[in-house]
Amino acid sequence: MKRLRGSHFPGPRPLTGLALLGLVAAFAMPPADAAADPGARHDAPPEATVTVPSAEQLRDPVWIAAGKQKFIHTCAYCHGTEGEAGKTRSFKTRTGWDPRIIHDTIVNGRVNGPNVMPSWKGSIPDPLVWKIVAYIKSLSADFEAGQQATR
Ligand code: HEC
Repeated sequence: MKRLRGSHFPGPRPLTGLALLGLVAAFAMPPADAAADPGARHDAPPEATVTVPSAEQLRDPVWIAAGKQKFIHTCAYCHGTEGEAGKTRSFKTRTGWDPRIIHDTIVNGRVNGPNVMPSWKGSIPDPLVWKIVAYIKSLSADFEAGQQATR
């Protein structure tokens, strides 16, 4: 290690000037959008950039099976294995349930007086959340009808 300190060490000096220039430039020219939307760069949650899967993906039996497995493991003690139990309406009676709303409820949770739906943000990766959404949609009352319509 000591040898590196010698005159042969091609230290970072040539770069220092450039780095300083970069710093000066950064201070001299704040990003144009900083004033317009100060929080945009740091506060945008990763969920905001997640794209909603297609209707076909949400009907994929592989997705539904993966979502079911996770649901039974993580959610069933409150909701029952098929979303029939718990403090909210049975998932099986639903029609036209917007997948994005299901997704957001899972990610953000919900508090309704003493009824607490925990937030799963950070503990369930988003792709797996969507597979759970696929499973929940597959339980809904209109699932079969929708499936026939796409055939
Ligand atoms: C500790 C119990 C508990 C667990 C665990 C739980 N939930 Fe919930 N969930 C609730 C309660 C209570 C509500 C109803 C909240 C309300 O009344 O607004 C709810 C609501 C929901 C809703 C909205 C239902 C509606 O009527 O709009 C969805 C979807 C949902 N949960 C999915 C899940 C999924 C998926 C999991 C597992 C990852 C999960 N929940 C785990 C307690 C739980």
